[in-house]
Amino acid sequence: MKGIILAGGKGTRLYPMTQIVSKQLQPLYNKPMIYYPLSTLILGGIREILIISDPAQLPHYKTLLKDGSQWGLSIEYAEQAEPKGIAQALTIGKDFIGDDSSLLFLGDNFIYGRLDFLRKAIAENTDGATVFAYQVGNPSAFGVVEFDANGTALSIEEKPLQPKSNWAIPGIYVYGPGVSQRAENLTPSARGELEITDLNRTYLDDHALKVQTMGRGIAWLDTGTPAQLLEASHFIKTIEEGQGLIIGSPEEAAYRSGFISKDQLAKTLESLPNCPYRDYLQKRVLTDNVFG
Ligand code: DAU
Repeated sequence: MKGIILAGGKGTRLYPMTQIVSKQLQPLYNKPMIYYPLSTLILGGIREILIISDPAQLPHYKTLLKDGSQWGLSIEYAEQAEPKGIAQALTIGKDFIGDDSSLLFLGDNFIYGRLDFLRKAIAENTDGATVFAYQVGNPSAFGVVEFDANGTALSIEEKPLQPKSNWAIPGIYVYGPGVSQRAENLTPSARGELEITDLNRTYLDDHALKVQTMGRGIAWLDTGTPAQLLEASHFIKTIEEGQGLIIGSPEEAAYRSGFISKDQLAKTLESLPNCPYRDYLQKRVLTDNVFG
């Protein structure tokens, strides 16, 4: 399974902060936003990752994440010249995906909780697509899925004015081989984008779309606006201070996933400056080896 993080877009809802720095590099409490989806991919067992962003921002991502070997990963980079839609990530990633399955993660989506649902979806998805569904109070802001009484998906709609349910589709999508060809065959929408909802609807029409609900024990937060950024930051601060554990550390995720050994983690930590982040990894992960 290959992982793709889409980290482009204009970030207009965060303007003027995004004049210089891309949205997914902005601080989400105490780490760059992209650390969170990246750590989730690592905890999902994914080692080969493509980061897609616009040409001006891509060098910053390369500086931040490097080739990934410090975390036992292989990270590649690709440009999205213009933000022409989320589904375009799958055409840009065509060579990277090859004949494999892929998981597309929007770089401004944050999830917290037991990731069994994600690991299950990764393990079980073979040919079709798996998307997730999460109950929200404002479904009109998202892709929305409608279910019948048996929990079978009937329709999916992008930002409907009159949503048929409260089930939003988070920006985490799992695809079997061949998704790039499907994305290439999409027609751009009225706003000139390759829409992820149109792509997923092709799977629904082919009876090849699985929709897996994410339970209430999972927190899914979209961090695209200043208010959402602040709320998600408070959420992370609350959990981190309460537990004395850190959320969204690629170093810790890589170690727990067995991607790097204890020695490799120690070596990676040597390259970090003296700071609370390093202290945490040194003391709580390397020395105490806290469980969980
Ligand atoms: O957050 C989940 C929602 O994400 C889904 O429920 C919707 O179905 C899906 O369309 C998407 O809605 P958004 O309104 O959040 O999409 P937005 O245009 O803001 O793009 C999401 C992220 O992807 C954002 O961080 C910017 C990035 N992006 C977007 C586009 C269109 C790119 O990097 N390139 C693009 O071309």
